[in-house]
Amino acid sequence: MSNSELEKIRKEISACTKCALCKSAIQAVPGSGNPNADIVFIGEAPGFYEDQQGVPFVGRSGKLLDFLLGQIRLSRDDVWIGNIIKHRPPDNRDPSPEEISTCKAFLTRQLEAINPKIIITLGRFSMNYFLPNATISMSHGKPHQLGKYTLYPLYHPAAGLRNPSMKIQLIEDFLKIPDIIEKTNLI
Ligand code: URA
Repeated sequence: MSNSELEKIRKEISACTKCALCKSAIQAVPGSGNPNADIVFIGEAPGFYEDQQGVPFVGRSGKLLDFLLGQIRLSRDDVWIGNIIKHRPPDNRDPSPEEISTCKAFLTRQLEAINPKIIITLGRFSMNYFLPNATISMSHGKPHQLGKYTLYPLYHPAAGLRNPSMKIQLIEDFLKIPDIIEKTNLI
């Protein structure tokens, strides 16, 4: 399956120098997976291993994400995975509001090119990209209709790795995805 617009955006991201993150990062991490997916997962920003490999969610958070996908019988080839920020912030610090706004148009264009039905956000930065006033503790595990998209906020896998009760909540919320898929008439 190809998606020439998504490929064009990937090249632009790889060459992007609009903010200083490109200077400290090894490479951009544009996103990966099925370019025509109905379901996309959006994280925050690349970390150490993602910066090394140019692929999102390949570190410890990614292993948890792979495990959770397996629990609902999905693989990375079924979905598309991306981030709001395309270059790694130094020392994995939080992205700044300026970095988020500088990078914003890339994800908006990627989503237009993929045209998914369900957007699953991982963590508060990603959720606030779409729902600026929402809080993750109130909104996780609750689907929202956002224009043509069903938006489903989840805790970030890294939060689950740090906090056992958040991990239980993340698993519980993740296991509701098949029901959301069914209600969105994807199966
Ligand atoms: N955390 C994220 O938010 N994104 C990644 O790609 C990896 C870890």
